[in-house]
Amino acid sequence: MRSFLSLVVLVLLGTTIQATPAPQVVPQKGGPSGGGGGGTDDPGAGSTGNGIPNVTDAQNAVCVPWYAVRDAIMGGLFQGRCTDIARAAIRLAFHDAGTFSLNLQENALPNGGPDGSIMTDPNEVMRSENNGLQQIVSLLNPIAAEFGVSPADTLQLAGILGVLACPGGPKINFWVGRPAPRNIAPMGLLPSPEGAVPDLIARFADMGLTVRDMIALIGAHTTGKQQFVNPAQANSTFDTTVDIWDTRFYTQTQAAAVEPGTLKLDSDVYFSTNASTAAEFSRFIGGQDLWTTDYAAAHEQMSILGLSTSQLTSCTEILPLSIDLSTVIDAPATGKNGGSGGGGGGGSGSGSNKPVTDPPVDPVKLEAAIQEFRSIWLVPGTVTT
Ligand code: HEM
Repeated sequence: MRSFLSLVVLVLLGTTIQATPAPQVVPQKGGPSGGGGGGTDDPGAGSTGNGIPNVTDAQNAVCVPWYAVRDAIMGGLFQGRCTDIARAAIRLAFHDAGTFSLNLQENALPNGGPDGSIMTDPNEVMRSENNGLQQIVSLLNPIAAEFGVSPADTLQLAGILGVLACPGGPKINFWVGRPAPRNIAPMGLLPSPEGAVPDLIARFADMGLTVRDMIALIGAHTTGKQQFVNPAQANSTFDTTVDIWDTRFYTQTQAAAVEPGTLKLDSDVYFSTNASTAAEFSRFIGGQDLWTTDYAAAHEQMSILGLSTSQLTSCTEILPLSIDLSTVIDAPATGKNGGSGGGGGGGSGSGSNKPVTDPPVDPVKLEAAIQEFRSIWLVPGTVTT
């Protein structure tokens, strides 16, 4: 009821706050994989005018509390934007799940995985590999407690909402029902940016993820900043468009030059050049639709490592629609996937039919799309920009 009332108020507020018509917010093409449940193929059903599903139209009773958790995270924490908290949530989802090991599982040893241990065991988040994640954990724990939901599911939802808060980020199937952690995650399972490519491939394989999954997933660095790899360059980004979910990360990581204000992780550079990974890496350059589809599938797998969907319930129904970058680019461009989504095969696009690899985004259209996306969460006094 509380969530329903707040949604009514917010819808009314949202309709008055928007001064100008905004570009259409449409779903991403291509749903992630994943077997059953709510699915992503009818995202407009039971949603508000700007594509945000309403609790009054909940299809599965198990999902009802998650509408309010969604609002607390997307509205309260992220304020409907691709903020530093949103990027931390994406990284947190990986740092909880990425401690899963098939090898440990086969040997019945204490294991990691998407079990929420990074939130429930205070020692885990204090490890140096988790530097920078303490704040998001301290913000998510009270939300899980307030709504009586599991920390593991809450942090995976936060990661999925973090991706959606970054314009261009795809919708990723969201599952609930992860078991509580049995132990703190074993040490040494998260990949290091100094790791050699064969070791990193092996570590992801031990999680149950392929090279393609791994290369798609590290594309999350499109919206990342670093603080601890080189503290002298704290806040440097991994590409020049940190606030949007685009393929510039792949383009700029593989290029010889280093763009001002950016920093390249050694592991990302190695992936872009190593014979085992370079083809997968290059495949995503200028391939927005291809990448977002592969990313969504891989992120979903990451979020349920070691678990079967038969143990879980899909609550994908609660997710808002993506902001489609192809609606906010300066000019339509042709690309690897037939044109939409900012694709392209390389070069500046000047002259003839040469496609644009990373078409520039129109900042006015982008901001209008963001305002439409976040309008339902705009609460006077809580949302500042
Ligand atoms: C080979 C695998 C990976 C390595 C070595 C790696 C390493 C790193 C490092 C060193 C940072 C910077 C941390 C800091 O100094 O603040 C970082 C940031 C980040 N990583 Fe990864 N990462 C990997 C995979 C992933 C995956 C699979 C995801 C998510 C799907 C991810 C999401 C992020 C995000 C969103 C940030 C930015 C966090 C922020 O801005 O606060 N990373 N990663």
